[in-house]
Amino acid sequence: MNLLVTGGAGFIGSAFVRMVRRRRPADLVVNLDVLTYAGNLENLRELEHDPKHVFVRADIRERATVEQLIRGHRIEAIVNFAAESHVDRSIQSAAPFLDTNVGGTLSLLEAAQAVGGVRFLQVSTDEVYGSLGATGAFEETTPLAPRSPYSASKAAADCFAMAFHHTHGLDVVITRCSNNYGPYQFPEKLIPLMILNAFEGLPLPVYGDGLQVRDWIHVDDHCDAIDRALTGGKSGEVYNVGAENERPNVDVVKAILALTGHDDSLIRHVPDRPGHDRRYAMDARKAREQLGWRPQRDFAQGLAETVAWYRGNGAWAGRVRSGAYRDYYERQYGDRLARAAR
Ligand code: NAD
Ligand code: TYD
Repeated sequence: MNLLVTGGAGFIGSAFVRMVRRRRPADLVVNLDVLTYAGNLENLRELEHDPKHVFVRADIRERATVEQLIRGHRIEAIVNFAAESHVDRSIQSAAPFLDTNVGGTLSLLEAAQAVGGVRFLQVSTDEVYGSLGATGAFEETTPLAPRSPYSASKAAADCFAMAFHHTHGLDVVITRCSNNYGPYQFPEKLIPLMILNAFEGLPLPVYGDGLQVRDWIHVDDHCDAIDRALTGGKSGEVYNVGAENERPNVDVVKAILALTGHDDSLIRHVPDRPGHDRRYAMDARKAREQLGWRPQRDFAQGLAETVAWYRGNGAWAGRVRSGAYRDYYERQYGDRLARAAR
């Protein structure tokens, strides 16, 4: 298969590209990424000399470029990872989320429709369903009820993708996954941020009471589900992806402290994220039953491996935390940490 992967220099996209190249050596992967702060060619170093991996630096909103790539490489499927992906940044400024997540997805859909014969897999998130109470889990039929600018933009993109399926007959599949963790994740997200702070003995900023629940999945299990949906999913269907691994944030942070040899005194309860979703949980029965998918990674083992990966890749982490990251960290945490409670 000839694939166009967008956002393939980011955390999950790069894991997917590496996986596809390992799994199906005959497949061509054209990797289109504009390289925002979150895109990093170092994530693709092992593919540097791979003739079946073609990297193109471009914006998904450049429709003519996308169309040219689809035609020029006889692309059979697009897997759209490209996005602004961080909730806190969407609270600081929502416009880039509208531009890339909605406008960018629309541009890809239009390009796919114009060429024809292309499967479109939209990589989406459990956050489009909103927030849960103490019980229950999101199903594919749960109404969309996004509550952050990030999730609003992802829900809008999902709606456009399905609209193109129903209106224009485009072959669309959507996967919606819970929170990912693993190697190469940009350290603005909970797990890598806490790991890297713990290595340096810096305070760990837990939002509010830390009892918000996320349903964690290893990035390789997510990529496996995407690949199965891509190759075996039914057109017009949504597949939830989650590993049934719900944890309160503070428990995850404590596990990281234990793995890095610290006690809980580094934890700082900082002012909460505005509109903070309380709990996510995924019902992934459909993916299990219809795609034959099973998560392989146990959380305790996966987290320990992830801590070890960040320990062994200090140079990578040092480079991504330079300059612009420091400005972001100061904006997001400077005032919060000053007002923190232990
Ligand atoms: P990331 O921020 O690590 O990577 C995003 C990538 O997209 C970067 O390489 C960036 O350069 C690229 N990009 C951004 N804007 C672009 C544009 N306009 N044109 C081309 N490239 C652009 O994100 P991630 O965590 O790897 O998430 C990937 C996808 O998976 C996103 O669509 C996200 O919504 C979805 N998702 C993420 C999670 C999670 O836990 N991280 C969970 C479920 C779904
Ligand atoms: P995050 O990794 O930003 O993912 P999302 O908001 O998409 O779920 O955050 C995961 C959880 O951790 C979320 O409930 C917010 C919380 N969190 C903190 O408590 N402190 C932090 O510094 C960060 C980044 C997140």
